[in-house]
Amino acid sequence: MSTGADFVVVANRLPVDLERLDDGTERWKHSPGGLVTALEPFLRARRGAWVGWPGVADIDVDPFDDGDLHLHPVPMSGSELRQYYEGFSNATLWPLYHDVVAPPVFDRSWWDAYQRVNQRFAEAAAEVSAEGATVWIQDYQLQLVPAMLRELRPDLRIGFFLHIPFPPVELFMQLPWRTEIVRGLLGADLVGFHRPGGAQNFLWLARRLGGFEPSRGQVGVRSRPGVVQVGDRTVRVGAFPISIASSELDQLARTKEVQQRAKEIRVELGNPRRIVLGVDRLDYTKGIDVRINALHELLAEERISVEEVAMIQVATPSRERVEHYKQMREHIEREVGRINGEFGRVGHPAVHYLHTSVDKKELAAFYCAADVMVVTPVRDGMNLVCKEYVACRNDLGGALVLSEFAGSAAELTSAFLVNPHNLDGVKDSLLAALDVEEAEGRRRMRALRRQVLTHDVDRWARSFLEALGAPFAD
Ligand code: ADP
Ligand code: F6P
Repeated sequence: MSTGADFVVVANRLPVDLERLDDGTERWKHSPGGLVTALEPFLRARRGAWVGWPGVADIDVDPFDDGDLHLHPVPMSGSELRQYYEGFSNATLWPLYHDVVAPPVFDRSWWDAYQRVNQRFAEAAAEVSAEGATVWIQDYQLQLVPAMLRELRPDLRIGFFLHIPFPPVELFMQLPWRTEIVRGLLGADLVGFHRPGGAQNFLWLARRLGGFEPSRGQVGVRSRPGVVQVGDRTVRVGAFPISIASSELDQLARTKEVQQRAKEIRVELGNPRRIVLGVDRLDYTKGIDVRINALHELLAEERISVEEVAMIQVATPSRERVEHYKQMREHIEREVGRINGEFGRVGHPAVHYLHTSVDKKELAAFYCAADVMVVTPVRDGMNLVCKEYVACRNDLGGALVLSEFAGSAAELTSAFLVNPHNLDGVKDSLLAALDVEEAEGRRRMRALRRQVLTHDVDRWARSFLEALGAPFAD
């Protein structure tokens, strides 16, 4: 048995992605998405190890240290990337768990690859973990790892957290491999979800598909976890809403550099009365089309004008070889072209569309410049972007339009909450946010900030690890 790390995170991706440049050289860049944003600072502070894929197929990278983090790359072949990552993870589980907003594909060869790659992650985790270590497995790509790892290393304390929604049982029941997934997750000592509803659904499935007798009480937020007795093991099932490093972002947003850049952004946009902002991975669950449609109709009805309101949409490229993502990108870019062609004026496009990732400071400057932040997913496990916006507004300026179908809506109740399927409602809320009176806007933002600043990512991780009984909660 190895003398390895006492605290290990296992996630599909490492916190850094290897990038191959056109000139043949390679460099590491920050990985996209909320999972890395949330976990990296926490693990770094505890000098943990991170097991994950380095972001490129068909290469072997030796384990290495990145500052205080020990990184342990797990290789993947090109065909595994297509079948396990693009296929089973992102064309089966992702749409199934997001309310089937796109039809999930059930392909047996993808399932085989999913099992194979999960086994490899379990073996890598077993290799790097010290005797009695705490291993925290992340997200839907690795749902079989808890049971596989337990088989290899019964001495470990194993936690699992799902970063996306856990679906209603009638949708989950469509999955041909539903029993295997439930049994895979039950290999953990603690299974965590963002919301009590997800935990409750899982407990129901543990009874129906696993044949166990779970507890029947209501699961609370960070409290009253459900319990499933699996042989001589007790598996806990709880709700732990994830968050961000709120005070770090609050501090960054207060810096002169960020404040100055926010002013420049407004000037570069031609000093519009209002700036509307969207920031997302380019994903069909994020409802980017919803906000563009709302803006389109408001312009057509002359309730706003392009001189008065400028919209910026920053969209990080994501999963570009998966069919639904390709279609969605084409759709969004067509709609941006259409709205700009129809309503844009010289120097005043309706939508400034940036198909790129931006660095932390630039992102904070965008948040500080935006009068209205629009977050309109049709389904989102949590959504960190809206929390980041709030953390950046120590001036109590700005207004948040937020979908009821984001997990964060349960916490950010002072936002302008919208149903993204009701376009008239979205338009009305967008207008209300654009015109909110200063005192009312400040009241809402104060309440939002109270929530985000007191419930940060540290609290999330600590509450999970405490419930797991791990020694790393402090
Ligand atoms: P998801 O995990 O589905 O991508 P979240 O909202 O939970 O969604 O997290 C997204 C993370 O990615 C946030 O930390 C956000 O700042 C970051 N992000 C999203 N879009 C961009 C972008 N265009 N540039 C830089 N960071 C981005
Ligand atoms: O939280 C959802 C999630 O899939 C994370 O697991 C991941 O870090 C992020 O979105 C980005 O997705 P991907 O790794 O597929 O680019």
